[in-house]
Amino acid sequence: MDPIEQVTDRVNNLLRQMTLEEKIGQLTQLGQYIPDTVPIDDRVRRGQVGSILWLSDPAEINRLQHMAVEQSRLHIPLLFGLDVIHGFRTIFPIPLALAASWDPELVEKVQAVAAREASACGINWTFAPMVDIARDARWGRIIEGAGEDPFLGAAIARAQVRGFQGAEMGSPGHVLACAKHFAGYGAADGGRDYDSAYLPEGLLRNVYLPPFHAALEAGVGTFMSAYMDLNDVPATGNRFLLEQVLRREWNFRGFVVSDAAAVGDLATHGFARDPQDAAFRALTAGVNMDMASRTYLEHLAASVQNGSLPVAVIDEAVRPILATKIQMGLFEHPYIDESQIQRILDTPEHRQLARIAAQRSAVLLRNEGQLLPLKMQSVKSLAVIGPLADSQQDLLSSWAMQGNPTDVVTIVQGLHNKVGSNVQIEYAQGVEISRQYPSMFDALMGRSQPVPWTDAQSQAEFGRAVELAGRSDLVVLVVGELANMSGELASQSSLDLPGRQVELVKAVAATSRPIVLVLVNGRPLNLSQVVEHVPAILEVWHPGVEGGNAVADLLWGDMTPGGKLTVSWPRSAGQCPIYYAHNLTHQPDTSPMFTSRYWDMASSPLYPFGFGLSYTTFAYSNVCLDRAEARRGETLNVSVDVENTGERPGDEVVQVYSHQRAGSASRPVQELKGFCRIALAPGEKKTVQFALGPGELSFWSPTESKWVQEAETFDVWVGGDSMATLHMMFKIV
Ligand code: BGC
Repeated sequence: MDPIEQVTDRVNNLLRQMTLEEKIGQLTQLGQYIPDTVPIDDRVRRGQVGSILWLSDPAEINRLQHMAVEQSRLHIPLLFGLDVIHGFRTIFPIPLALAASWDPELVEKVQAVAAREASACGINWTFAPMVDIARDARWGRIIEGAGEDPFLGAAIARAQVRGFQGAEMGSPGHVLACAKHFAGYGAADGGRDYDSAYLPEGLLRNVYLPPFHAALEAGVGTFMSAYMDLNDVPATGNRFLLEQVLRREWNFRGFVVSDAAAVGDLATHGFARDPQDAAFRALTAGVNMDMASRTYLEHLAASVQNGSLPVAVIDEAVRPILATKIQMGLFEHPYIDESQIQRILDTPEHRQLARIAAQRSAVLLRNEGQLLPLKMQSVKSLAVIGPLADSQQDLLSSWAMQGNPTDVVTIVQGLHNKVGSNVQIEYAQGVEISRQYPSMFDALMGRSQPVPWTDAQSQAEFGRAVELAGRSDLVVLVVGELANMSGELASQSSLDLPGRQVELVKAVAATSRPIVLVLVNGRPLNLSQVVEHVPAILEVWHPGVEGGNAVADLLWGDMTPGGKLTVSWPRSAGQCPIYYAHNLTHQPDTSPMFTSRYWDMASSPLYPFGFGLSYTTFAYSNVCLDRAEARRGETLNVSVDVENTGERPGDEVVQVYSHQRAGSASRPVQELKGFCRIALAPGEKKTVQFALGPGELSFWSPTESKWVQEAETFDVWVGGDSMATLHMMFKIV
């Protein structure tokens, strides 16, 4: 029997023996913190549970797994699911930062380490990668994805799936991955978390779905349905998404889990009449497993009993869950060896990778007068100022529950580690910042509400910071957002730097000391009021446990920043949503009439997609296309020479963009179609090649209602960001 038949055979064999209650049990994921009337042990023994959410204590995981395997009637092991998003114990930079490395190989390694640590503790399923496209920085969950672009998003999605799952499902030291949130969550109205999304089919298929499809091609075992309404139908009851696209068109063979409580919430949405209707609608739309709402557990049987739901439909939902457990080797290896955990968590190698990841994720946004890298001989006293400068928790960010804040090297510590006694470092917090409305995640993250400073304290601390700046050779000003200001339930209406941070920047700038602004944040923020006051800006995001050391490496020039933005950086929230791959209009930006689409502000972003500076310079030459014409289905090759023309080694992210000039639909002014991060020594030159084939040149046409590759003229640009000017043309005939 071939392996697939063997799995099917084992599934059939189990299904034949299962009662309805046991089948519904496999469709049920219980939430660790959700109050239940029945003790979890009883549910496990009775086979009423297929999976447990948020449990992370290895001893308890082992105990329950022993119970499921040894004391339940059919010995079916449990899946233990957790959000391992950017590390487990060793916390890496947030996903948006990892994407800014434009380095899928790095991303794969990071998620492989996350998987290794999580699986050592008994977690066998992560709710990642989050592959939602985000074009509105107000949406707090922009931090969890790869940014605005489907091509880059797809590459990062593939890398994450490979990292989490390994070469194949069941690879030792790896975990089952979950592509989420299917689909369109990032397009929430106004950037407000959980709000409805309205996406025409072309936009959905050309922009929002490709990273999901890439995850599927990379073999992702599960998908998570999203919370919100998509085009007036909740994603968790959305047959178009789950049945037509995912299963029929894409032939997905794994299983779908709902987002937390989303099955029950179909009634809250005003979509289902009551919990029984909610269970029926979610299951028949294609949600196999109910995360944490117990709506399947408590209400599915009634629909079977009243004849509205055939048991065969339940069987079909159970099949891929059992098949996944079999393919993962869970029946053969259900337990973990707790004695090995300490050997695997937070090792020096993992920390070293965290440091590299933070270095490679950083984006240099500004460097007037080559202020960076800092030079030891000219900086004898350094003021490190700002609410994020010495914070451990805020370098971790959200979804870092298993991380330990005391593991974190803060920026102040990292700078001390780097310069020792050669430079005198002093620190002042300057201002305090906090959310106006609390987040329910604070309790989960163990974050207590800080006691606000009195006015007198605020004034004194502000004054101390400015005074310190005034008597220092240079100021590193670390501003941005606390960990709880981005992520889930952390949307922001303004994008302004929270609290009195702008005031602080201006007051410090008034001392005329040179300032390096280091940004710690989960999303682009409004820098328009501060940018002119600071010669250098280094974006380090929430950089993880080794953040402080990585920042010191970058500021002192032991590493050269090479990351690039994966989102267009708005000048203010009023520009959102903003993205480079917008369509042409009747008055294009190149028209002589064009000034701005607003009368009060430029309509271009402050920093474009793909942008990032370096301490060295690069020259592009010899750009060529191997031919000027190709037939549909054929591939053209673009090549370009890139040379490091500066005096330091550095990395460049070479990018290729294309544009279809006419066709059955308007096409974006440009779209990323290839990228490659290369390392170049001073004076070194490399040739980089990209293929433009039908995959790159097709799109889903709203007038044809299908994928098309059209015989048209195309532009192609090559360069170091989306403003690339090296231009060529070709024709598809
Ligand atoms: C989030 C998901 C997450 C789930 C389980 C939800 O609130 O939207 O992304 O995987 O909780 O933690």
